[in-house]
Amino acid sequence: MPIRVDVEFVARDAFRAVERGDLIIVVDVLRSSSSIVNALANGVKAVIPAVTLKVAYNVREQHPDFLLVGERRGRKPRGFDLGNSPLEFARQVVGGKTVIMTTTSGTAALVRCRRAECVLVGAFLNAGAVAKKAAEIAQYENLNVSFVLAGEKSLFSLEDFLCAGAIASKFPAGRFDFSDEALAAVFGFEHVKDALSEYVMRSRHARHLTELGFQRDIEFSCRLDHFGLVPVYRDGKVTLMR
Ligand code: MLT
Repeated sequence: MPIRVDVEFVARDAFRAVERGDLIIVVDVLRSSSSIVNALANGVKAVIPAVTLKVAYNVREQHPDFLLVGERRGRKPRGFDLGNSPLEFARQVVGGKTVIMTTTSGTAALVRCRRAECVLVGAFLNAGAVAKKAAEIAQYENLNVSFVLAGEKSLFSLEDFLCAGAIASKFPAGRFDFSDEALAAVFGFEHVKDALSEYVMRSRHARHLTELGFQRDIEFSCRLDHFGLVPVYRDGKVTLMR
């Protein structure tokens, strides 16, 4: 049987992918997926996604040695150690640490998928690696694949859609049966891949981040296949898949 590939365009529809029993790839290019990938690349032991600031502050109270990171309206909330800029996750700051992360949409999208069979975190930064791992697991475990796009406050996000296309375009040909949504994502990515950051810069959220002074985050987040690592979300935390 071919492996079916679907896309849920907004995080509130994550439940559909969970109910289908699919392997889920959560994508929030700007910026939480990219921050998670860069954090793990720089030696973070685990990222604990928290949906609300309150939950994040509570976890921190129980674990004062954990770093508190994330954003609201793009900026670092009061009392946090770091914001949600992937570039803040430097090895000398985060290496060896556990991180509690709460962001407006990305961490909430992850938590919505917590009951899924298998949840991976995808970004442009690790597109090839996550495609390879997802394909292996899906074939071995006989699972279909769904992308859950975090979007921005429940709105469709261009950059997440293009990233789903970047990942899906790397699935081995022949064994995958793409929905029209997944095909559209692949066609979209193929169209922009040679000038990825220029196209992503035109998206709503990228323009907002640029206004806040985070243009370098966008450029960094558009580096295709910069890392060969795959984050997996299980038992309430995101760690490196070994
Ligand atoms: C989010 O989760 O909503 C984003 O990662 C927001 C951002 O930091 O740009």
